[in-house]
Amino acid sequence: MPQRSVVEAPNPLREGLRIKQSAEPCVMVIFGATGDLTHRKLLPALYNLALEHPLPAGFSVVGFARRPYSDEEFRQQALESINAYSRQKPVNLQVWESFAAGNYSELPRSRSSAP
Ligand SMILES: NC(=O)c1ccc[n+]([C@@H]2O[C@H](COP(=O)([O-])OP(=O)(O)OC[C@H]3O[C@@H](n4cnc5c(N)ncnc54)[C@H](OP(=O)(O)O)[C@@H]3O)[C@@H](O)[C@H]2O)c1
Repeated sequence: MPQRSVVEAPNPLREGLRIKQSAEPCVMVIFGATGDLTHRKLLPALYNLALEHPLPAGFSVVGFARRPYSDEEFRQQALESINAYSRQKPVNLQVWESFAAGNYSELPRSRSSAP
């Protein structure tokens, strides 16, 4: 299994606090993954978290719905939704590809949204 590392950005709100807080690896299950809320809000929000780096290493999304999309069809629709609704555009394809592949700890460190 490949080694993963997490590089944290400084958080001015935590200055002076002794206890370090970081999210544990986790899985987010989306019930209604093919729906409007997921495509308009959840996926763009997750992409923006990936772009800004607070997602923990090992973070995964499991989507549940009735439409029989393949993983690739779902990823393609997710990318279209993020392109349409993300507050940071255009989509950084390097970040997107790492996000879509689940390599959250290997995302490029730049905050630029340019591809
Ligand atoms: N859209 C928004 O901006 C928004 C904002 C705030 C709150 N909400 C609330 O969030 C909820 C979802 O809204 P939405 O706009 O995303 O609705 P939607 O576009 O109609 O999507 C519904 C989702 O639920 C899935 N689903 C429905 N019945 C199912 C079943 N029996 N088994 C498995 N999956 C099922 C659908 O999947 P398939 O069609 O593929 O089966 C689809 O992914 C609603 O309660 C809504 O009031 C939505």
